[in-house]
Amino acid sequence: MDITELLKKEHQEVSGLFEQFFGGGTITRLVKRVVGARPPRRKAVAARICDALTMHTRLEEEIFYPDVRATGDQQLNKLVDESEREHAGVKEKIAKAETLLDDEALGETMSAMQSDVDHHVREEETEMFPLLHNVASDHRLQELGRRYAAAKRALKGGRSAARSRSAGKARKAAGAARRQASRTTAKRGRKRATAPVRNTSGSRKRKTSSRAKSTASASRQRRTRPRSTKRARAGRGR
Ligand SMILES: [Fe+2]
Repeated sequence: MDITELLKKEHQEVSGLFEQFFGGGTITRLVKRVVGARPPRRKAVAARICDALTMHTRLEEEIFYPDVRATGDQQLNKLVDESEREHAGVKEKIAKAETLLDDEALGETMSAMQSDVDHHVREEETEMFPLLHNVASDHRLQELGRRYAAAKRALKGGRSAARSRSAGKARKAAGAARRQASRTTAKRGRKRATAPVRNTSGSRKRKTSSRAKSTASASRQRRTRPRSTKRARAGRGR
């Protein structure tokens, strides 16, 4: 797939996510706003939009735009300058959206983000891509598409590995907390078993566990037994 087809596909995916966020097209959105209906999971969809746009802007800046500039075409160069300025606006809105908890404010920020993205997409698809097709060979655009896709896979792989690492750390921390809680409970149990208690005369004595009591009883029995059966036998023999 050449780079322009690949980028158009990404634009469509983001556009679909915006539709999901707002719960339909402009008319559906207006109706829902009037009747007060809110599409479910708006925050989750907003997070997906921010993720997709963060990846898209980064890959365009690192892989696509340098190659477009390398064509040496002045008009393309100006269009890349314009696109990079638009990316800065989108990134600001992504950073804002990621901190918003209020649904109304999130809706306003996502709406402004959608306008920026629509404008950016229109410019790329109607001006930059056709011009690029005029100055770059199909082979070059295919090759750029392959490099872009490979970089995207690597970025996605890095992100999921980072997510797995943080999930693993969270599991370890939870396990350590459980073990610590279990040690504390066992320690408290041991303390209670030997806690000092007051007897009826008011003096303090150590409360002895039943196991300690049976050990003490066995020891008393040994002390009261005849001293030595061997000596007793010897006495009988005399
Ligand atoms: Fe784009």
